Amino acid sequence: MRIVMIGSGYVGLVSGACFADFGHDVVCVDKDAKKIAKLEAGGIPIFEPGLDQLVAKNVAAGRLRFTTDLSGPVGDADVVFIGVGTPTRRGDGHADLSYVHAAAREIGAALKRFTVVVTKSTVPVGTGDEVERIIREANPSAEFAVASNPEFLREGAAIEDFKRPDRIVVGIEDERARGPMTEVYRPLFLNHSPILFTRRRTSELIKYAANAFLAMKITFINEVADLCEKVGADVQDVSRGIGLDNRIGSKFLHAGPGYGGSCFPKDTLALVKTAQDHDAPLRLIETTVAVNDTRKRAMARKVIAAAGGDVRGKTIGILGLTFKPNTDDMREAPSLSIIQALQDAGATIRAYDPEGMDAARALLPDITYVASPYEAAEGAAALALVTEWDAFRALDLGRIKAVMAAPVLVDLRNIYKPAELERLGFRYAGIGRAA
Ligand code: UGA
Repeated sequence: MRIVMIGSGYVGLVSGACFADFGHDVVCVDKDAKKIAKLEAGGIPIFEPGLDQLVAKNVAAGRLRFTTDLSGPVGDADVVFIGVGTPTRRGDGHADLSYVHAAAREIGAALKRFTVVVTKSTVPVGTGDEVERIIREANPSAEFAVASNPEFLREGAAIEDFKRPDRIVVGIEDERARGPMTEVYRPLFLNHSPILFTRRRTSELIKYAANAFLAMKITFINEVADLCEKVGADVQDVSRGIGLDNRIGSKFLHAGPGYGGSCFPKDTLALVKTAQDHDAPLRLIETTVAVNDTRKRAMARKVIAAAGGDVRGKTIGILGLTFKPNTDDMREAPSLSIIQALQDAGATIRAYDPEGMDAARALLPDITYVASPYEAAEGAAALALVTEWDAFRALDLGRIKAVMAAPVLVDLRNIYKPAELERLGFRYAGIGRAA
């Protein structure tokens, strides 16, 4: 199959490289000439484990190339994916579809033969109809079908998620799209990955409903964790105890500082707006958004309490800045609000992150970035573990303790055992763990 991927950001690049690895002929398009030049020179603009090798291998095999020219490749394509960004629109929280609409217009003008145009970007219900209308307007005689095919990749595990998905969801209104969409994913059927064909609007809603449900699940366990602290229960065991029930499932029940990232915050907000507009408010998700928002600053209060109730003039060490491990992504990272709140309370911040410090510098200019967890702990009245990078799981705690002003560890991801830390002479505060 000849595939064109419009948008060489996170979704476009990972999906494009994986489709090429399936043996398809893939062209990744982006308007950003600098990004394309970097990709052509063998550079990868994002950090994603395994992506550099996958891109290099498929470029060398002649199955994957990059260009700023949309119209040539689209004219020859069997399937064109739209994988451009859909950020939160300033002011009203709806998804900003201007990039999707612009891509549709350009695709319309470039179509030469029957082509399936697929939205892979996360788009509100009804966007497929609008993409279809825009293409028809740009090119009234074009032969095309518009499909929806949301992606369910997690940053840091995106290649694995693409190649071994729990499911593939495809929404179509025109039966002519079924064949090419089946062909595009054929290698995955060998892995027995289920493919769900449905209507287009249903497919668009599945993506938002899935992310909203996961965000709600995390938020649920976060609130239970707060209750655990009050009643002397342990949230780790509560998670295990409820998660072993297959109807609940054990995943996404890890209590922490609140969800962040480029997807959950944006998608929950957009879904809430869509639901309100259609007079079918999703109150559970409205509450999820509100609870998660307040949680981040509450985490700073937890750090302040652990440091003795006052951090003015004190140093606080921060381990982990990215919204989760194995990414350099700082979007909506809980660390941003936590650090801001600590600074508001008068603390000086020393921070270390294995991959996120470059991106963090622009967002948190007035903190000290250091080269190791041990340097982050130097002189600190408390050390807060915000992101659960593997590198933080086996720290030399004796060495950490020796350099701190006071041995206080605030483990916002519950990766340490409280009893062990206490044996080593630390004051330990986790999430939802009895003192
Ligand atoms: C999420 C979904 O998991 C993907 O399925 C989806 O495709 C993607 O959004 C998207 O819409 O593009 P991602 O944002 O990469 O993926 O990250 P997750 O691993 O889902 O984590 C999101 C946030 O939830 C992180 O801040 C993480 O720390 C937090 N989290 C996750 C918890 O606090 N507890 C958990 O148990 C799980």
